[in-house]
Amino acid sequence: MAQSGKLILVVIIMFSSLLMYVQPTTYAAQDEQWEKIKERGELRVGLSADYAPYEFEHNVDGKRKYDGIDIDLAKKIAKDNNLKLKIVNMQFDSLLGAIKTGKIDIIISGMTPTPEREKEVDFSNPYMTVTQKMIIKKSEDDKLQKLDDFANKKIGVQKQTQQETIAKNEIDNANIQSLTRVPEVIMSLKSGKVSGMVIEGPVAEAYLKQNPDLKFAEGVKFEEGEKNTAIAVPKNSPELMKHLNATIKDVKDNNLIADYKDNAAEAMKKDDGNFFTKYGNFFLKGIQNTILISIVGVVLGAILGSVLALFKLSKVKPLRWLASAYIEFLRGTPLLVQVFLVYFGSTAVLGWNLSALICGMIALVINCSAYIAEIIRAGINAVDKGQMEAARSLGLSYGQTMKSVILPQAIKNILPALGNEFVTVIKESSIVSVIGVSEIMFNAQVVQGASFDPFTPLLVAAVLYFILTFTLSRIMYFFEGRLKVSD
Ligand code: ARG
Repeated sequence: MAQSGKLILVVIIMFSSLLMYVQPTTYAAQDEQWEKIKERGELRVGLSADYAPYEFEHNVDGKRKYDGIDIDLAKKIAKDNNLKLKIVNMQFDSLLGAIKTGKIDIIISGMTPTPEREKEVDFSNPYMTVTQKMIIKKSEDDKLQKLDDFANKKIGVQKQTQQETIAKNEIDNANIQSLTRVPEVIMSLKSGKVSGMVIEGPVAEAYLKQNPDLKFAEGVKFEEGEKNTAIAVPKNSPELMKHLNATIKDVKDNNLIADYKDNAAEAMKKDDGNFFTKYGNFFLKGIQNTILISIVGVVLGAILGSVLALFKLSKVKPLRWLASAYIEFLRGTPLLVQVFLVYFGSTAVLGWNLSALICGMIALVINCSAYIAEIIRAGINAVDKGQMEAARSLGLSYGQTMKSVILPQAIKNILPALGNEFVTVIKESSIVSVIGVSEIMFNAQVVQGASFDPFTPLLVAAVLYFILTFTLSRIMYFFEGRLKVSD
């Protein structure tokens, strides 16, 4: 009882000191934004590459490439200012957080300036204007013609976008289904989960071309039909803003957006070949990274986990508390939250600029270590107590007993459970796709965007995960058999 009371206290203290540390950082040095970029020699542009013709990833001669209007604009900004360009691809609803925590310098992602967003960031002059449209299934064409026909219906939108607001404001009693990525919304529409989708004109056209079962709801006109698109910039960065607006002016004066649109249309043309020749290398890359991060997660997690297990079994109370607090906290919070905490926390709290891959690995290692610590502790505890007593009474020291009596038996309990943990990690690692780690799930999403086919890539991802986990569990089965024989 007293024990668990102390444990709760330790968790609370750890948590509140963390919170104190995360107090909203004020970016006093924000006008130095431009200086920082210049010094780095690299402009980090955040975007969500699910948005052809603005930004999408596709295959050129077996290599992956970003293309689209926003990409061309970003390239020009970099070139005009003698900077290298770094594209940081993430979910649309993570972009504002990323710019505020300093993960990216600017957002070029078909973003509309809105009053809410203007509280968080400044916007450049607009570089485009787009119309808001509704798309539906062809088969529902006779039922869904005017805006009124959508009253009380389910409407799909991309999460945290202007389209979400428009649907809320302009459709009577709309039942809004917000999903993170455009292809997911398209899939909901195709499968009849929503009746219509509010979407920007050029993006709609790109998807309609590849999905003949969808069409525009011609009769629907939104009041907020026209919207600007601009670059989001951290607040109070006048110098950076000046340079962005200079490029935008140049783009407008020379009507370059028209060229960018042509480039995008060219890049969007279906490349030859079947699904696998076109997108196979996306999935291959994904498999490599999934295996890599899972191995790192389990191996480093096991090392850290062993230390924690020893702490937990130790006679020193503070070590026990520390280990318990750590383990309880990590097992009691979702991996998804931990991934975001590491990703944004590493920059916002610690000021480190770590890549998504490294952040994803760190989160997995930390998470695994807690589970593995428990596996090891349980494995050791499962060895009959009498063994320790017997060995000690024969004159062996505690250390000797552990090493030559307890641990060899514990290993037999631990190894199978570690194998299961490995299988779990392979599946769970899909979560790090949210911060843009290029593993299987992330690549499936990229292919969804590139192929305008929301379903097949998911199916392929499922099969790949299954092959990995099934093979692994067969291998484990084999070794477990060997362990038993060695008894
Ligand atoms: N223009 C809309 C907005 O700013 C949607 C932009 C979505 N962009 C994207 N890359 N998915 O809310």
